[in-house]
Amino acid sequence: MTTIIPMPGNHTAALELARAIGAKVCEVTARRFPDGESYVRLMQPVEGERVIIVCTLADPDAQFLRLVFAAGAARVAGASRVELIAPYLAYMRQDRRFADGEAVSARHFARLLSQTFDRITTIDPHLHRIADLSEIFTVPARALHGAPLLARWVVEHVENALIIGPDEESRQWVEEVAQAAGAPHAVLHKVRQGDAKVAIRLPDLAFAKGRQPVLVDDIVSSGATMLEAAAKLRAAGFPAPICLAVHGLFSLDAYALLKAVCKTVVTTGSVPHPSNAISVAPLLREAIHLH
Ligand code: R5P
Repeated sequence: MTTIIPMPGNHTAALELARAIGAKVCEVTARRFPDGESYVRLMQPVEGERVIIVCTLADPDAQFLRLVFAAGAARVAGASRVELIAPYLAYMRQDRRFADGEAVSARHFARLLSQTFDRITTIDPHLHRIADLSEIFTVPARALHGAPLLARWVVEHVENALIIGPDEESRQWVEEVAQAAGAPHAVLHKVRQGDAKVAIRLPDLAFAKGRQPVLVDDIVSSGATMLEAAAKLRAAGFPAPICLAVHGLFSLDAYALLKAVCKTVVTTGSVPHPSNAISVAPLLREAIHLH
C-alpha cells in the first residue's frame, strides 16, 4: 500500500494525489524550537508502506532539513520505500562553476537527495547544461513535463492566442503549447544582465497583430523576464499579455508587478500560490503508475 506524506504547505497537491490513487495519508507535525532547530513527527504508522513524501522545494533552505528528518522517521517506522515528489526542484540552475570556488549546487543538492530517497519525481526541473537528471542523481529520478497542462489551459481559456517564449530556453514549452493549442508562436531574444535584470528584443511579430499574447515559461522567479517581455509587447502595440508558467516562485513583489501589467497571471500548483489555476495532480498520478 501507498502512503502519501504532505510536508507543511503541500496539502493541496498531496491530497489531490492521494485521492486520485486511493492512497492513505500520514500527517506530519513540524515546528521550530525556540533556538531555530526543527521538530518533525509522523502522526500515523507507515510500517510496510511505500511512502511518498510530497514537498515542493521552492524555499529549499527552510524545507530541506525537516524533509530529511521526515524521510528518516519513515524509514525508522518501517516504510518499505521512501520516495520524494518535489513538484518544484530547487538548485538546478547553478549547474556549473562560473567562478573559482563556486559550489555547483545542482550536483551537491542532487547527491543529498539521492542519499535520502529511493526515488525522486519532479516537474520540469530547470535543466540547461545537464541533459538528464540521471547525470546528477544516483537513484532513479524522473522529470515530468508540464507543457500539456499549460496547453490545455490555453485551449480552454484563450481565443486567438499567440504563444510567446521570452527566451530561447523556453522554446521547448512554447512549441509544444502552440502546437497543442493550434496557435502561432514566437520566441524572443533575452540577455540576462543581473539576478533581476534582463534585456529583451522582439522579432518581427507583424504576422500576429491582433492576437492575444500568452507568455509561456518554466519559471517566474524575480519576474524580470516576464515584466520586460510584457513591456516590449505593449510597446509593440499588443494587448496586455497573459503570463503562464509552470513554477511561480515570485520573489519579492514580482506577483504584484506582473498582475499590474498582465491580463492575468497563471501558474500550475507545483508551488502553492494565489496564481495557481492548473492542478498538477493528473501529471503526478501518471508518474506514480509509471514507476
Ligand atoms: C531562465 O532561463 C528561465 O527559463 C526563466 O526565464 C527564468 O528563471 C525567470 O527568471 P526571472 O523571473 O528572475 O526573470
